[in-house]
Amino acid sequence: MTRPLEIALLGLGTVGAGVAELLQRHAELLAERAGGPLQLRRVAVRDPDKPRDVDLDPDLLCGDPTLVAADPEIDVLVEVMGGIEPARTLLCEALRRGVHVVTANKELLAKHGAELREAALQGGAGLHCEAAVAGGIPIVKALAESLSGNRVQALYGIVNGTTNFILTRMTQDKVGFAEALKQAQDLGYAEANPAADVDGDDAASKLAILAGLAFGAEFASDDVYRAGIGHLTPTDIQAAADLGHVIKLLAIAKDRDGQVELRVHPTMIPADHPLAAVHGAYNAVFVHGDAVGDLMFYGRGAGRMPTASAVLADIVDAAQDLRRGVSGRIPMPSRRLAVLPMTEVTSRYYLAIQVADQPGVLGAIATVLGRHQVSVASMIQKGRRDAPVDLLFVTHQAVERQLLAALEEVAGLPQVERIAQVIRVEGSEEA
Ligand code: NAP
Ligand code: HSE
Repeated sequence: MTRPLEIALLGLGTVGAGVAELLQRHAELLAERAGGPLQLRRVAVRDPDKPRDVDLDPDLLCGDPTLVAADPEIDVLVEVMGGIEPARTLLCEALRRGVHVVTANKELLAKHGAELREAALQGGAGLHCEAAVAGGIPIVKALAESLSGNRVQALYGIVNGTTNFILTRMTQDKVGFAEALKQAQDLGYAEANPAADVDGDDAASKLAILAGLAFGAEFASDDVYRAGIGHLTPTDIQAAADLGHVIKLLAIAKDRDGQVELRVHPTMIPADHPLAAVHGAYNAVFVHGDAVGDLMFYGRGAGRMPTASAVLADIVDAAQDLRRGVSGRIPMPSRRLAVLPMTEVTSRYYLAIQVADQPGVLGAIATVLGRHQVSVASMIQKGRRDAPVDLLFVTHQAVERQLLAALEEVAGLPQVERIAQVIRVEGSEEA
């Protein structure tokens, strides 16, 4: 009989418990697919005495991740504990020893991907990370392998389930931000520190990984401009609806003739855009390749079993490589690409400007915008006479640097009370 492959698991939380459960539930199926049995050898947790909702021999649990990762008998190390250290050191050491690694840790990959790849090359080991981006959606494999015949020109992703869940609850059910966030946490979607979700950091890490695969270049999370959803109000969501749009936290990567745009921010998209139909904790990645055209990948982007599904696919890949005696495939960056500064990015914009309702105010604002090459596509006025009113503008394409300069000047006009909101607009024919 074929010897079982020995799996060590770092972490038995939301994702780890799902991995342990699937290893048991699908043991026979996985053995068929992996070319032999998969054996869970040890599991590292912070607190081995904590009650767990997964049926596991307590003797497998260990409070020391170093001991688990350094076990000389393991073939595959699965890291689902999160954070930078000790994960970075343990994974690099394991890879250098030739242990194949599967990780769901986008933060680590986006900060130290080059170091991990280098360690994998040194050890001839595989580095697998399907679960790190978009949970259960097999987008990493699609970009690394299935789309090799394309030059990817643009990628738009809803890659954070927590923020999509919050925005959906705020849009569809008029639930407040705090209540929606609490629900996302209870459902296991949110990161240990939910600010990583809400502020766009989690999506930025995922975009750095996706763009690296799409464009064959090395990007880090710090290369990605990000703005979160914490400043969005029910008024913004209603205004978007009135304009026939919805607001999504989009991760956007575009090839701009040798430079790339990398940005994560709330974005207004038309209500009939395919990404507008992505609700709740679902994720989607919309890819445009020069040969294939438009593609959209859709599925559950977070949560125990969807993420475990991606981890198991990676474990099976690693097992197949081990059985065949080949070192794992590691997509390596082949190009150097500069990231376009955010100030040079071109976009359409939604602007909400609160003003005193006086004759000439509209003209004064339009004059300033025009002087900075910001052209207005549409405008509506909201509010009562004799009270401050909101002027809602949607612009044509404008350069961010020019828009910011215009807004600074607009904010100084005597009739203008405040710039209430600025949201980038994508997805129409102009974008
Ligand atoms: P989690 O529920 O907080 O679980 C973390 C697990 O790791 C826990 O079992 C914890 O032990 C253990 N752990 C943490 N630090 C440790 C340390 N220093 N030593 C030993 N054990 C340690 O996290 P999660 O949601 O499963 O996420 C895990 C990873 O998957 C993260 O990188 C996350 O970004 C990524 N991810 C999560 C999702 C999702 O939907 N949750 C989706 C995709 C990717 P205790 O149980 O004893 O506390
Ligand atoms: N916190 C992440 C999310 C988990 O909400 O998408 C999946 O990576």
